[in-house]
Amino acid sequence: MTGERPRSTGLFVTFEGGDGVGKTTQASLLQSWLTDAGRTVVRTREPGGSEVGLLIRDIVLHHRGEVSPRAEALLYAADRAHHIETVVRPALARGDVVIQDRYLDSSVAYQGAGRVLGRDEVRDLSLWAAEGLLPDVTVLLDLDPAAARARLDADDKPFDRLEAEKESFHARVRAEFLALAAAEPDRFLVLDAALPSSELAAAVRDRVAALLS
Ligand code: TYD
Repeated sequence: MTGERPRSTGLFVTFEGGDGVGKTTQASLLQSWLTDAGRTVVRTREPGGSEVGLLIRDIVLHHRGEVSPRAEALLYAADRAHHIETVVRPALARGDVVIQDRYLDSSVAYQGAGRVLGRDEVRDLSLWAAEGLLPDVTVLLDLDPAAARARLDADDKPFDRLEAEKESFHARVRAEFLALAAAEPDRFLVLDAALPSSELAAAVRDRVAALLS
């Protein structure tokens, strides 16, 4: 399987990292910058970037009872398969820039490392679901889980199923994201999410500008 596309198509940018690291803020800043520069941007997310995906999002984030690990991995993969085919690929084919909160690296980090499934099987499942599509760049916002938790606490929103997991779970997720980035240094841009938002935004812009030029 391969994530290669003809060079003339759009650009696929994903943001990854633990809960509360500021992905949404950085995705919005990048979107504004690109829109001001005249690019057409499709801003989306997983889980829940399509109508079917919203139904799946409700199950994976808000179902109160247990969801078995394989079922959970398949639900994220189902969301991804539909989202990539109906939203992301058409946008890339039009030449748009797709800015997406979370993608297959989240599955590997959360379902693979965080739980009982092997990271390779989770990655293979995601690649199958997405027919091999990989981002052109993945921005990993790296932050100590305790600092991220303090930000979420300050937000005053109720925790979803994954946010409510134990500290050790979030430490494993963080370590897995960093391992993924180390394995694919060309695709990943790893940033210290404790830096000021404007500095992070500038680093993201530099990388995206280089890819667009
Ligand atoms: P998200 O909507 O990004 O929440 P937040 O804004 O709080 O980061 O993601 C919701 C949760 O879904 C998040 O805790 C991570 C989890 N997730 C997985 O476990 N596997 C996946 O494949 C994806 C895409 C998300």
